[in-house]
Amino acid sequence: MPSILVKNIGTLCGINEKFGGLKKGGEMARVDQLNQAFLLCENGQIIAYGGMDGCPDRADNVVDAANGHVLPGWCDSHTHLVFAASREEEFVYRLKGMSYAEIAEKGGGILNSATKLQAMDEDLLYEQSAQRLEKVISMGTAAIEIKSGYGLTLDSELKMLRVIRRLKENYAVGIKATFLGAHAIPTAYKENRQGYIEHIIRDMLPIIAGEGLADYMDVFCDKGFYTIEETDLLLKTAAGFGLKPKIHANELANSGGVQIGIKNNAISVDHLEEIGNDEIEALRQSRTIPTVLPSCSYFLGIPYAPARKMIDAGLGIAIASDYNPGTSPSGNLSLLMSLACTQMKLLPEEAFNGLTHNGACAMEWQQQYGSIGLGKTASFIITHKIPSLAFIPYSFGENLIKQVVIKGRKVS
Ligand code: NIG
Ligand code: FE
Repeated sequence: MPSILVKNIGTLCGINEKFGGLKKGGEMARVDQLNQAFLLCENGQIIAYGGMDGCPDRADNVVDAANGHVLPGWCDSHTHLVFAASREEEFVYRLKGMSYAEIAEKGGGILNSATKLQAMDEDLLYEQSAQRLEKVISMGTAAIEIKSGYGLTLDSELKMLRVIRRLKENYAVGIKATFLGAHAIPTAYKENRQGYIEHIIRDMLPIIAGEGLADYMDVFCDKGFYTIEETDLLLKTAAGFGLKPKIHANELANSGGVQIGIKNNAISVDHLEEIGNDEIEALRQSRTIPTVLPSCSYFLGIPYAPARKMIDAGLGIAIASDYNPGTSPSGNLSLLMSLACTQMKLLPEEAFNGLTHNGACAMEWQQQYGSIGLGKTASFIITHKIPSLAFIPYSFGENLIKQVVIKGRKVS
């Protein structure tokens, strides 16, 4: 694989040779940087970096960063990027006053997406999802988690997970797959939720685990969706199949999701719009990563997770897009960085760490992704010349990315 040298980097951001674990509390405000730098990559890995005075004089590919910033590629640890159709009609219902929960009760929401996905041919689903993936790569995403959960039948959950597997095979970005069969109770089981849960346990999990189709297990543990007891049972069973939990918790109500995630050693508990001091304290005592999804709050007009308070309490947080057709139809992480700053009062450095290193931690990938370090994957963003890291969230909505490099190759 050809080598690639990036020279004349104005600021090389997010250097990390020493933090193996999550950046927490005050550490979240620290971003190690080097001015007037070069970055050299070979075989898809970073093999050297340093000041321009030590810049090597040759490589197969030389890219002049023209004083732009170089950042590690974004790490988006929570998405539903595989879906069949947009849902802008529900967006308009909400503008007219209906709530997300009311729309879901009337068969909109996740069930609406499931009906469309069940009817869609697998190749078409793959093509559409691949287009979405290419778009987020062009916006700087280098590692991404993608969930199933719009299938809600054995066949359609498998269809989604096979699509994710094809994406893994065909793209150089890092992809982790999560089984979210417990995303909603399908209409056919409306009067028999126990039957659906048994179906997941008896029929879905063995096949999914047996075929290695998922890395993680997710449950939408929330008011109107899955209860604490159901979530506990599903997570325990999935753990027996080797799938670690990463769950949806406390989006719509403070109903114990955080605690049940922690109890089951979840890698992360995600959403957290409705948490209090008890949940923050429980998270402080655990290794579970709180993941916040500011664009979901923005788009639904619901409260933001108290990310400022969490960091001030010493927690480390990850920030993810939740890219999905219902609650967050965007995978633009530069814009998300801005939302985290303006709406959650995070410093640009804290938002940056939440979207890079800590996001990588929420996919157990911090050794490969989320920072600039020797031996790490050569997946990074070259920006136009900008005055500082803070300029990214400041100039919200503007595209400052000049070039994305994934595993040592320029993305066109
Ligand atoms: O993370 N909250 C649950 N699942 C998604 C929304 C899914 C949908 O509305 O399609 C979320 O927000
Ligand atoms: Fe989600």
